Amino acid sequence: MNPIYQTYTQALKRLKDADQLRSFKQIDYRHTKIITYKNTPCLNLSSNDYLGLATDEALCREFYGAVNAISSRSGNSDLINQYGLGSSSSRLLTGNSILYETLENQICKWYGVDEAALIFNSGYHANLGVISALAGKNDLILSDSLNHASIIDGIRLSKARCMVFPHNDTGRLEALLEQNRARFENVLIITESLFSMDGDRADLETLVKLKNKYKALLYIDEAHSAGVFGPQGQGLCYQAGLCDQVDILLGTMGKALASHGAYILTRPLIKSYLINTARSLIFSTSLPPVAIRWNLFILERMAEFDKKRKHLQAISIKFRNALTHAGLTIAGDSHIIPVITCDNKKTVEVSDLLFDNGFLAFPIRPPSVPVHQSRIRFSMTSDICFEDIARIPALIRQHMIKAA
Ligand SMILES: Cc1ncc(COP(=O)(O)O)c(C=O)c1O
Repeated sequence: MNPIYQTYTQALKRLKDADQLRSFKQIDYRHTKIITYKNTPCLNLSSNDYLGLATDEALCREFYGAVNAISSRSGNSDLINQYGLGSSSSRLLTGNSILYETLENQICKWYGVDEAALIFNSGYHANLGVISALAGKNDLILSDSLNHASIIDGIRLSKARCMVFPHNDTGRLEALLEQNRARFENVLIITESLFSMDGDRADLETLVKLKNKYKALLYIDEAHSAGVFGPQGQGLCYQAGLCDQVDILLGTMGKALASHGAYILTRPLIKSYLINTARSLIFSTSLPPVAIRWNLFILERMAEFDKKRKHLQAISIKFRNALTHAGLTIAGDSHIIPVITCDNKKTVEVSDLLFDNGFLAFPIRPPSVPVHQSRIRFSMTSDICFEDIARIPALIRQHMIKAA
């Protein structure tokens, strides 16, 4: 082995010794809620396709039909001939088209606001580009301790000072605002509305009060709530009637919206500023037109998925109750249901046991979660029924007792 690679060899060995080594898993086949992995069909409990749209056969067929058809609901005919398959350029060069504007208008219409929407290639691109563009060296970022890696990386790229407040501790957040507000030009409070690894929620009302009291900007990442909450899936800020109080609302389209990309909803001024400063937007090839078209197709139908949203809530409550009844430690109060197993090795064992019993639920370990808080993160989707998952609590409980 070339000694130049020794650092990386040792780092990988350390990860392996700590039961934290990751590798790609090859999925052979994905059909509705059933996924085939290692030639074994099992129930997919690790997907962010919360409404079950990505594998909804009828919906996919309708979309392919619409792409090929001379006319579709939004009038974009002959998509492939008009724009090609790839966008082949940044949006600031030739990667832009009327489809983008249509999608951004559709997002504003969905939220019923006069704000401006701006599309990014993914939630990761959006957090990286927006945070680093908005916060400069005279600014302060106040960030929840459980914020997603993409938020953390956006903060790292910015030149701003960052202070992390304990998870959902608005008292501590206020103390930080009180002590520091006057020392900085702008202050940005950043949080998720529904936390990706814990499935719990931010106290949006208090955050809005604090942002107004201390004249700060409020940045809310709705990656896991967009599509799921609200009358047409607009998310938790909309459900709380607070959209107009949020300065930057971020939603991803790769999760409940079953597509790819992300959007922010913000003031037109901020949109113009970001078009000129957000490096992940400026220096990256824009999404392929077919992906934009699929986003539009899904958004046009968002109102129709209410039954799916209601079932998702109902099945999540039932499963959480069953896990608690079995004496297991769970977190959150949503469709993201983490069973806290703490120890890395035990978490991998539980995941393997579930797989042997026909369930695919991957172990979540540091750095995705804090040390000693490893977990099995169950993602409910609206095509699951309780009979599918009724055996799981007892299976995990038996293993935990045996391993204790
Ligand atoms: C809270 C949060 N924000 C942003 C992202 C990134 O979104 P995307 O997958 O579209 O890059 C994720 C992804 O899991 C997330 O959980």
